[in-house]
Amino acid sequence: MSNMIRKAGPFEIVNHWALAISFFALVLSGFGFLFHLEQMNALFGSFSRMRFIHNWAGVIFMVSLFLTMFTYLPVSLRLGSDDIGWILKAGGYLSKKAVVPPQDIINTGQKLYYLVFLLTGSAISASGLGIWFIAGVKKWVLISHLVHNISFDLLVTIIPLHIYLGTLANPGTFRIMVYGTVPLEWARKRHEKWVRRMGY
Ligand code: HEM
Repeated sequence: MSNMIRKAGPFEIVNHWALAISFFALVLSGFGFLFHLEQMNALFGSFSRMRFIHNWAGVIFMVSLFLTMFTYLPVSLRLGSDDIGWILKAGGYLSKKAVVPPQDIINTGQKLYYLVFLLTGSAISASGLGIWFIAGVKKWVLISHLVHNISFDLLVTIIPLHIYLGTLANPGTFRIMVYGTVPLEWARKRHEKWVRRMGY
C-alpha cells in the first residue's frame, strides 16, 4: 500500500522474534530452576533437557541482544530537549490533551526501555556465562547467581510492560513486529521527527 511507511526491515523483524522466543524459553526454564517446578521439567521433557535448552536459548538471546545494538543503540543515545519534554508530559499517557514533543523512530520511553533492557540483558548474559563456565571459583559463582537473579527479576517486570505497550495500549504497534510497516498517518502522529527526516 502506498500510504504505508517501513519502520522495521526483515533483519529487525527476524531478530525481534529470535529475542522474544529465546526470552520466553529462558523465562519458563528459569522459573523451573528457581522454584524447582516439576511441571517445567515435564514441559521440556526432563531436567537435563531443560538445562540444555536454557543454556542454548541463552546463546541465541545474547547474539540477538548484541544485534539489537545496530538498530536501537545510536537512536537511544540521542537524547535531547524533546525527550525531556516527553518525560515532563509522561509521554501523553496521563492526559489526552497533553501535547508531546515530536519523536524519533522510537519515542523517549522506548529509548529508555531499550537502554535499561540492554544493560539488564547484558548483565543476565554475562552472569549466565559465569554460572556456566566458572563453576570452580566460589566467589564468582555466588556473584554470578546474585546478578543473574536480580536481572531476571528486572526483566520479568519490564518485558510484560513492553508487551502491553506494544499491543493493547497502543493499537497498530504490533504489526511492526509482523510486517514492519505502519500507516504513514499513524507514524506521523507518533514519530513526527523521523517521518519528516524520511522526507514525508
Ligand atoms: C511477544 C511479545 C512482544 C511484543 C508484542 C513486542 C512488540 C514490539 C514492537 C511492536 C516493537 C517495535 C516498536 C516500534 O518500532 O515502535 C518492539 C521493539 C522492541 N522489543 Fe518487543 N515485543 C515483544 C517481546 C519482546 C521481548 C521478549 C523482548 C526482549 C526480551 C523485546 C525487546 C524489544 C526491544 C529491545 C525493542 C526495541 C525498543 C522498542 O521499540 O521499545 N520484545 N517490540
